[in-house]
Amino acid sequence: MKPINVGLLGIGTVGGGTATVLKRNAEEISRRAGRAIQLRMVADLNTDRAREVAGEGVEVTNDANQVVCHPDIDIVVELIGGTGIAKDMVLKAIEHGKHVVTANKKLLAEYGNEIFARAQEKGVTVAFEAAVAGGIPIIKALREGLTANRIEWIAGIINGTSNFILTEMREKGSDFADVLQEAQRLGYAEADPTFDIEGHDAAHKLTLMSAIAFGIPVQFSKAYLEGISKLTSQDISYAEQLGYRIKLLGVTKRKANGIELRVHPTLIPEKRLIANVNGVMNAVLAKGDAVGQTMYYGAGAGAEPTASAVVADLVDVTRLATADPEHRVPHLAFQPNQMADLPI
Ligand code: HSE
Repeated sequence: MKPINVGLLGIGTVGGGTATVLKRNAEEISRRAGRAIQLRMVADLNTDRAREVAGEGVEVTNDANQVVCHPDIDIVVELIGGTGIAKDMVLKAIEHGKHVVTANKKLLAEYGNEIFARAQEKGVTVAFEAAVAGGIPIIKALREGLTANRIEWIAGIINGTSNFILTEMREKGSDFADVLQEAQRLGYAEADPTFDIEGHDAAHKLTLMSAIAFGIPVQFSKAYLEGISKLTSQDISYAEQLGYRIKLLGVTKRKANGIELRVHPTLIPEKRLIANVNGVMNAVLAKGDAVGQTMYYGAGAGAEPTASAVVADLVDVTRLATADPEHRVPHLAFQPNQMADLPI
């Protein structure tokens, strides 16, 4: 069968990781997908670096339009970030009948309802495993692994940068600003790191998990947000003396009158597993009525952990795109026309 052709928008940290993983594990990936997945085009403003990272045989351009409109491209991977060009390109790719894989939690948390509805109309898939908790396959777990359950709540450490900062402050007594710089250097932090430390990034991810778990529209604007920037080393050390760790938690819960969505620093007894999730690692707890409590753990940011999720989506989308359209199971977070009428 002919390869499926991928067009990549943005070849920074995660894009570079994606190109590397696709190349290194090409044999296993194509066996699992049922056909070869080929990186065919890359768009990036820095074309010299893009050529170097993408390697031979990949067409490079500085114009994302060329990728999303190209007749040979089957799947567009959006790794530009933000809600400007990224939104235009995702909508344009959908209009051109391309499937989309994205790591852009901000875009989907703010414009997901419009994007998923348009994708459904056009019969294409928008997959976003890499948008939530880096390499942890939490979207797959919520959508497929726990599909028999009525989800009661989800709680998690879903921002690697803030967890890295809190861990370094507690273990080494490091200064907040120094650790933040280190997280930026390691490629964990968002382009605007206030998104990490003020809880926006965690709330974007929480909003997406909540939409899948409870079948509600994505409603980022309804989330309560409180970040870690006001915490001092003294707060962390007092908590420790009392037997607690401070973690930035995202919590979404089914209540009698609607769905709760909140992100804030939380005191957690030090013996709890989630209190011992350190550094850039993320963890998500989900409680289902049948399965009880489950926990998922792994790297929440970084080039190859996030690329692992991007490539998993590429494999999923390739399988879907290859199946007889009549027998395809829609791959959206929720069916926009069947949303539960639960207020947030
Ligand atoms: N800035 C994010 C984090 C990257 O630190 O978790 C992964 O979404």
